[in-house]
Amino acid sequence: MKVVLITGASSGIGHATAVRLAAEGHHVVLGARRKDRLDALAEQIRAAGGRAEVHALDVTDRDDVAAFADAAVRDHGRIDVFVANAGVMPLSRLDSRHVDEWDRMLDVNVRGLLHGIAATLPHFERQGGGHFVTIASTGAYEVVPTAAVYCATKHAARAITEGLRLESDPSLRVTTISPGVVESELADTITEPGAKEAMVAYRAHAMPPDAIAAAISYAIGQPDGVDVNELVVRPAAQR
Ligand SMILES: NC(=O)c1ccc[n+]([C@@H]2O[C@H](COP(=O)([O-])OP(=O)(O)OC[C@H]3O[C@@H](n4cnc5c(N)ncnc54)[C@H](OP(=O)(O)O)[C@@H]3O)[C@@H](O)[C@H]2O)c1
Repeated sequence: MKVVLITGASSGIGHATAVRLAAEGHHVVLGARRKDRLDALAEQIRAAGGRAEVHALDVTDRDDVAAFADAAVRDHGRIDVFVANAGVMPLSRLDSRHVDEWDRMLDVNVRGLLHGIAATLPHFERQGGGHFVTIASTGAYEVVPTAAVYCATKHAARAITEGLRLESDPSLRVTTISPGVVESELADTITEPGAKEAMVAYRAHAMPPDAIAAAISYAIGQPDGVDVNELVVRPAAQR
């Protein structure tokens, strides 16, 4: 049984990850802003015999993320796995100058990840180990029109997570999982009509979010000393 913290657990990949890992016997600690969604999910997990608790948090708030990690350690004595999953994707062309949306992606997808690293590293060091999992994207490996800023944040997420691995001693396992198109609420934040329209065809072959939950389960299920560093998981139909 591992104590697994998951940011962005109120929908999509984070939600599916909570359900799968709880069913596998792990104690999941769920964070996001929509606490009503988290409460309903925790109730569902407990009704199925699993263990879950919830914390409202905004990953752009450094103190919120630190409190999330500290509370888990206070309640359980340790953090075995931190899944930095929270993310937003309001796509648009650069000439649309949706600067506030660019800032939002940088704040959530990059600063939010850094807040997770800052919050967990002291605990991992004190415990003598742990596992940090970042949910990046195939956008960490490519750039597509309307997604310059989103892809930049995911390139950054992958780079930061690789830096964490290189700087850490072998007691810390570090994994970047990069999904292709997954069914979720992620495209709901797109406001630019052209980008919204393009997403309809792009997302036609989406995978269920449990495909990514299964990848996380695989990575954290490896024996001590085996570190799955990067996984790219796409729908077979995605090119
Ligand atoms: N779906 C895909 O096709 C796809 C592909 C590649 C990568 N990804 C990545 O997968 C991750 C999960 O996305 P998803 O597809 O599952 O989308 P989703 O259904 O929209 O889930 C995003 C989650 O992030 C949370 N979140 C957003 N802003 C937050 C904030 N400031 N503080 C705390 N939580 C915040 C949301 O919760 P609240 O709104 O309740 O805070 C929600 O739980 C993201 O990093 C995304 O970039 C998704």
